[in-house]
Amino acid sequence: MISREKALELLNTYVKTEWLKLHMRESEIIMIGLAKEFGEDEYTWGLAGLLHDLDFDYVNKDPQRHVLEFDSVLQLEGLNIGDDIPRDVYHAIKAHYESHPKIDEKRESKMDFALSAAENLSGFLVACALVMPDKKIGSVQVESVIKKLKKKDFAKAVSREYIYDIEKTGISLNRFIEIALVQMNSIADEIGL
Ligand SMILES: [Fe+2]
Repeated sequence: MISREKALELLNTYVKTEWLKLHMRESEIIMIGLAKEFGEDEYTWGLAGLLHDLDFDYVNKDPQRHVLEFDSVLQLEGLNIGDDIPRDVYHAIKAHYESHPKIDEKRESKMDFALSAAENLSGFLVACALVMPDKKIGSVQVESVIKKLKKKDFAKAVSREYIYDIEKTGISLNRFIEIALVQMNSIADEIGL
């Protein structure tokens, strides 16, 4: 499996957009928190979060090519699925865009559901923090996140469905948000919140 150093090197090579880098890092830290909660492997779960949008700048943010080209990046880098990138991580990354007609992988495993939920919640929590008077992630409360999720006009682009599907992993929405807030707050300086 690739080291975290190698994963960061990939990120720095292929991801040039600052908010996207932060989004991938935030997804990593939430995935680590979920792995801890479930007693799963923190490194592989974190890796899925860190690499999930690796091709997004590479495809110029084209939704038609996004995630499909993840394979091209791996090929360019001479990285193998199963060897360098664990199969479960690969599956979760593909399945996080299961709505794309050319992607066969569907969310099935705990890691699959966790990744899709985590990457959607990370963006949502950033939006929640930015409307706080001090713009701090530490000021965001679980209850207010739940309320905002119900407001269709708030952070419209975020898939509520994928976030609510966290319950398919066996934890409640409340617990999920609690974990994600603690995790994001632990890197608050790094993510500028
Ligand atoms: Fe993402």
